[in-house]
Parts: sequence; C-alpha cells; structure tokens
Amino acid sequence: MKEFLELITEEMQSAFEKAGYDRDLGRVSVSNRPDLCEYQCNGAMAGAKKYGCPPIDIANKVAALLDGSETFESAEAVMPGFLNLKLKNTFVSKYILDMSNSPKFGYEEPAKKSTIIVDYGGPNVAKALHVGHLRSAVIGEAVKRLCAYAGYEAIGDIHMGDWGLQMGLVITELKERHPELPYFDNDHTGEYPTESPVTIADLGVLYPQASEKSKNDPAYKEKAMEATLKLQNGHPGYRALWRHMMNVSVNNMKSIYDSLDVHFELWKGESDVQDVIPEMLGYLKKNDYMHLSEGAWVIDVKEDTDTKEMPPCIVIKSDGASLYNTTDLATIVDRERNYDLKRMIYLTDKRQDLYFEQVFRAARKAKLVKDEVELLHIGFGTVNGKDGHAFKTREGGVMRLEQLVSDINEKTYERITESRQMPEEEAREIAKTVALAAIKYGDLSNQASKDYIFDMDKFTSFEGDTGPYILYTIVRIKSILQRVSQEGTDIDKANITGCFEPTQKALMLQLSGFNAMIKNAYEEVAPNRICAFIYEAANAFNRFYHEVKIATEEDPVKKESYIGLLKLTRDILETCIDILGFSAPEKM
Ligand code: ARG
Repeated sequence: MKEFLELITEEMQSAFEKAGYDRDLGRVSVSNRPDLCEYQCNGAMAGAKKYGCPPIDIANKVAALLDGSETFESAEAVMPGFLNLKLKNTFVSKYILDMSNSPKFGYEEPAKKSTIIVDYGGPNVAKALHVGHLRSAVIGEAVKRLCAYAGYEAIGDIHMGDWGLQMGLVITELKERHPELPYFDNDHTGEYPTESPVTIADLGVLYPQASEKSKNDPAYKEKAMEATLKLQNGHPGYRALWRHMMNVSVNNMKSIYDSLDVHFELWKGESDVQDVIPEMLGYLKKNDYMHLSEGAWVIDVKEDTDTKEMPPCIVIKSDGASLYNTTDLATIVDRERNYDLKRMIYLTDKRQDLYFEQVFRAARKAKLVKDEVELLHIGFGTVNGKDGHAFKTREGGVMRLEQLVSDINEKTYERITESRQMPEEEAREIAKTVALAAIKYGDLSNQASKDYIFDMDKFTSFEGDTGPYILYTIVRIKSILQRVSQEGTDIDKANITGCFEPTQKALMLQLSGFNAMIKNAYEEVAPNRICAFIYEAANAFNRFYHEVKIATEEDPVKKESYIGLLKLTRDILETCIDILGFSAPEKM
C-alpha cells in the first residue's frame, strides 16, 4: 500500500499543478497546530518567491481547487499562506480498512530478500555477563527482528570473544593453581578428560583474579600473552581446555539470553575465522593493501577530510598473533563469501566507534566487501544508576545480568500483587512477561547512542511511557474484545465500516503511519521510533476508550467499526512489541 502521507501529498500536488504551480510545492506534513488542523501544507510560502506573488494568493487558488475533494474535508488558506487541512472521515476509514485487510498492514517489502547480519551480544567467554551486555542483547535482538519484518533475511550472530587475551589469562591462572592438570603436561599423550576441570563459578573467580594480576605483574601478563598465542597456534592441551571453557560458558550464556528472549541464529566467535586469516593476510600483502609499521602489519585508513585523529588499522602483530581487528576483518571476508549481503550491523558500546570506523574503512579500502554492502555500527550509551554513574549493585559492585533480571522480576511481582489478588504461580508468570517489557522498553525507547538511567520504579510503572503501560493497553483491548465476544458478537467478522467519533479518527490517523514508521525505523536502525509510535498509539486508544462507550454502543454499524478498529490496534501493537522483543500477557 502507498504510505498515507504519500497519498495525501499526491492529491495536494495535483492541485498545485492544476493551479499552474510546481507539483513539488504540494508537500503535506502532520500539523504542528493540532488545535487548528490535522495536516498542513506550506508550499505556497515557498512558491511566493518563485512566482512573485503573495503566498496567500497561491494558497487560495489551490484551496479552491480542493473543494469537493474525496480526500480533504477542508483545505483552508490562512495568512500568510498556509494551507490548513482536515481529512474526510470516509477517506481515513477506507485507508484503515485497507490496512486491516493487507498483509503486514500494507507495509511493502523490498523486491529482493537479501541478507542482513546483525552482530550483537558479543559476550566474552570466561567473563560473566554484566549490565554492560544488556544493551547489545536488547537492541540487537530488536534490530534483527525489525530487519526481518522489513523483508530481509535477518541473521543474528553472537560473535563471542573467544580467542583473545582473556582466554590466555584464564589458562595462565588455572596453570598457576593446578599445574598438575594434564592440559599443562607437554608430554601428555592420548585423550584429555571429557569432564571440564572448571565450572562457571570457577571461571567467575579465575578471570577477575588473572586480570588483576596481569595489571600489576608484567611477567604474568607476558605469560598470558604467550598462552594466548600458543592457544591460537594449536597447542593441544590449551585447545582441549579451551573447548571445556567454551562449553561451560556457552551453556551459561544461553540460559541468560533465553531469560531475555534473545536468540541467535549463529553462535560464532572470533575463533571461527582462524582458517580465513592466513589467506586474507596473503591477499592483503599481495595487493599492497597493508604494510609494516613499527613491527605490525597495518592498513592506513586516514582520509584528507578527517578532522579527528585516525590511526591505521592494525591487521596483525609481528609475532603473528591475531587481534580483535584481525578476526573482525576475517569475519567480514567470511560473511561476504557466504551470504548475499545487504547490510552488516554491529552493536557495541559507543566507545568502539573509532575502532569500527577503522575496520570498516580498512575493509572498503582492501575491497574485502562489495561497495553496495552497508557496514553500520550502532554504538550505544551506558546504562546508568540514578546517581548518573554506571549502574551498580546496591553494594556498589558490578551488576550481573542475571541479578538485574531477577531484581526487576521481583519488583514487577510486587507491583502486580499490590493491585490484585491472584495465585502465586500465575502472578510470577505474568511478572516475568511484564518485567521483560519493562527492561526492554526502558532501554529501546531511548535513542541508542544516549546514556540512560535504569530506573526500576519508573520502568515497572503501569503509567507513562513504559513497557507495562503498553502491555496494559493491549490487555485492556483484549478484555473488551473478550467481553463483546461473550455477549454474542462475532469478533472475527467485525470490519471497519466507517469513522464516527473524533477520538476514533485520531486513533486511525495514528495507526495510518505504521508503514512509514517501519520503513524509517529500518532505514535509520532505530527501534526507538517503534516505541514512540506505540506510545502515541496507546495514548490515542486510551483517549478513544475513555470518550466512547465501545461495548455498550447500540448502533450496530458503529459498534462493528469500533470492534474492527480495536482488533487492528491490538494487532499493530502486538506486532510492534514482537519486533521489540517482548510480548503481552492475557491479563495483568
Ligand atoms: N566481544 C566484544 C567486546 O566485548 C564485542 C564484539 C562485537 N562484535 C564484533 N564483531 N567486534 O567488546
């Protein structure tokens, strides 16, 4: 379906043309004076200069031609030359009816279903998931679902940090504590034990210990770097140990991501491109894309127009050890080979902005990726506490992701049981669903690049711009539908037959922007646009609900239309929250 605003604009453009003016002047936008009109066109103001006449003359001429229009109820020319527009109810309800009868509410998919890789999550094996990992998971999942809805093959890749120094650090620390383990015995022959020598709890101790030591003890750090290189070069004991640590970590990660309803199509990591690296290095050397600089192989990525410092992209260290950059470049090569790509989207903390700029430039310069593939980095801000500093536990420690989820579940449970009585088990179940909405909406409603304050009280509130408010609205719609259905109305057959009330029209006008909103959110990679849209839609619905008696309406035509609109509102809201990565309970 054509976008709503496009349809109105076309009608306006024809009027400008008929009046003898340039079509392009007839652009319509949502009114910034909703007290006066629904939409407006400022084209006459721009036309005045061009045609050397007062803008009001142009506006008057165009307005006269719109008399009797099927689209506009009124087109009023006001000083100094604005066109204030109101739409015909029939035009609006016809569009909304078409939306409710079209797949994806009339959103048009692109002709070609190419692939988009969303690289998110990015946890590091051996390190515990903490609040810093929340945004990558939450925004990444929403972005992936948005890309899929927009009509692409969307693939989420967790891209674990499983090959870097953190692995060497843990290996070193374990060796200090348990030198007797067979993984450290160079003369070991045969199989290694099938049981992991470390648990997830052990990893939680080993890594911070090792990391602390390496900061104060250069010899220790040296050992860890050596261990990293040995692992990368295929040391059999270290590889066996690494596999154990991977299993233990991945199981743990899965359960945490599951609790956030975050799921990855690919469980790949930095280690998966080991085979690609030598080949890529050969290619880069052969084509002179990289050169030696202070012992390392680098690609220069500086451009004349740069206003900020742009250091070269280090591809590999002189000892052959691969770095974060090496695996990222090789991963680009690997993905480019395996998929017909449209976009690659990376989600990390915005402190990696410069890093990704370097990697993307290097990939383009060395032609590791086709020109038309978009490389996008979404750098997000920090999750802060109410004190404005990074979110911490009450004791001031790093907030584990598991802890955060369980705290908000508890808080939501309290809220739910405060307002009504229900069996414990049911309340727990509902609390889980609502808590997820609270966390995700609390995050996604912000522009990704901004920091935000994780405000448990605000996020779990049933009022205001929150996830629970959206869910509450959906539940309210469902319960009205259930009621009228129990009273004998055939819900499935109810259609939008017309528009009768101002608040009903306002809700329709809000919903009419759905397909344009999806397109923009996709293009700008901005789930916050979906949040803004559903918040407005929920507000518009609630105003309608408070003004109009829906279930008790006596005129059958009106009642049917109301029910049709309720169904559409519910479906659009549920589609949107599904893209955002959460769902609504049946009651709350
Ligand atoms: N493991 C990385 C980190 O903790 C994030 C990985 C992001 N993805 C990527 N392809 N670099 O910072």
